[in-house]
Amino acid sequence: MPHFPILGIDSVEVTVEQSQRLVVVSNRVPPASAVAPQGGSGSVSVGGLVSAVKPTMERYGGIWLGWSGRSTQRRGSNEPTITDLGRLQLATLDLSEDESSMYYTGYSNRTLWPLLHSFPGRVVIRHDTYRFYRRINRRFAEAVFSILKPGDQVWIHDFHLFHVGFELRQLGWTGSIGFFLHVPFPSADIFSILPWSKETLEALLHYDLVGVHTDRYLRNLLDTLDSELGGSLDDRGIYSFEGLSSKLGVYSIGIEPSVFQRKDTEDRRGLTEEISLNADPNHRLIIGVDRLDYTKGIPHRLRAFERMLEHHNHLRGKVTYVQISSPSRTRVPEYVQEKEHVERLVGQINGRFSEANWVPIRYLYRSYPQYDLARFYHDADVGMVTPLRDGMNLVAKEFVAAQGEENPGVLVLSQFSGSASSLLDAVIVNPYDVDGTAEATYRALRMPLAERRSRSKSLMEGVLKHDASAWSESFLHDLGVYSAQVSVV
Ligand code: UDP
Ligand code: G6P
Repeated sequence: MPHFPILGIDSVEVTVEQSQRLVVVSNRVPPASAVAPQGGSGSVSVGGLVSAVKPTMERYGGIWLGWSGRSTQRRGSNEPTITDLGRLQLATLDLSEDESSMYYTGYSNRTLWPLLHSFPGRVVIRHDTYRFYRRINRRFAEAVFSILKPGDQVWIHDFHLFHVGFELRQLGWTGSIGFFLHVPFPSADIFSILPWSKETLEALLHYDLVGVHTDRYLRNLLDTLDSELGGSLDDRGIYSFEGLSSKLGVYSIGIEPSVFQRKDTEDRRGLTEEISLNADPNHRLIIGVDRLDYTKGIPHRLRAFERMLEHHNHLRGKVTYVQISSPSRTRVPEYVQEKEHVERLVGQINGRFSEANWVPIRYLYRSYPQYDLARFYHDADVGMVTPLRDGMNLVAKEFVAAQGEENPGVLVLSQFSGSASSLLDAVIVNPYDVDGTAEATYRALRMPLAERRSRSKSLMEGVLKHDASAWSESFLHDLGVYSAQVSVV
């Protein structure tokens, strides 16, 4: 049976029953072949949510409920399909073509995603997709409710499922429910673009605990609650409005470092050999790894690399930029356009600079298992993580964890990623400033060994301390504490 460690805070007494189950709900669940007890090497499931929740579930056990990822001809059953994996059970729901296109492609990925990432020009407002979103949130809640037992701890994840807590309360669930937002929370001005902003915020206040990645997102959320609802915040961080109350907190998500850590003495057959670069040991490598998403700033990064080659002639033939672009949301029109844009730019830059024995950009439109990513990160001299906006960005932390002590690479990191708030020894850039990013990348390529080692050491300390376990432990601990408190506010 799972047992949640209790860290003891503010002299609050908490007892957690040994029989308490953890029930996690997210839009996406990984395929059974990617989860314990097989060891998780079966298939690739790309995205920060799965990367962080998977070790949580492997550690605590429990039930993980989400969409199977299948789109069926007809509306699926409300009864989840259960796959028993020992301590962990996967519960999946099918969605019909209509449901997935309206709830997932439409409202989640064309309305909420650009809104929460502060791309107001890309936000599509449609009442029909919102209606589907609400309906599917209700279906998720009904499916969860059907498997809940008294005492279970329910943890809902991410923007696809804002209203599941509210629906669970409507169904009569009085036990604890937590919610974690894996993406940024934008400023009040941006959030108010949503015609359903008030009811979305009210839905959030049905959770006992709401977690975000950074202090800034928390400030944005509080500011938005104040301007849209006008409730009040007490000194414990509990926000109340018209009989509803929720504890709001910051829980910075981390990685499982052991998946990425590599010893310098380990087999170095990594990226260099994989992509058959010329055998020159001084050949430099830059790596970028992202889902192919417009928030990741891949075109800006390509332009920065191009600018660096323009300004520093001597780098030509001596540096290769490897961009792994993992296919993502391929039915969403904005993602189709982004893919075309990226591929056009890669073609232009390679066309402009390539020599018979050198292609400046190796562009890989595919996903790799994390074991391979670890080798690639380790072999790179520079990791470029330059999103225009990103909730946290785990790739940045993975790159840090994969560096050896002897000859560590340098992380070039966007100031607009959540991870920049903790990875202070990265080379921080503004990705919109293409010239500035080009120069910072050049500096990173030339950084002296002593400086690389000292930056890498301090970055690694942070990544080890704030790992995936610390994140889930602190959230679940606080959920235990505050679910008791908010019900008596
Ligand atoms: N990832 C992967 N294979 C790939 C590309 C990415 O397994 O080919 C994983 C990567 O290791 C990371 C996650 O996908 O854990 C991406 O998370 P991140 O927080 O960087 O961004 P998100 O995709 O969630 O926006
Ligand atoms: C981000 C979101 C996750 C999502 C992931 C991959 O990390 O916060 O909720 O799972 O991207 O996106 P996808 O649409 O493929 O699930």
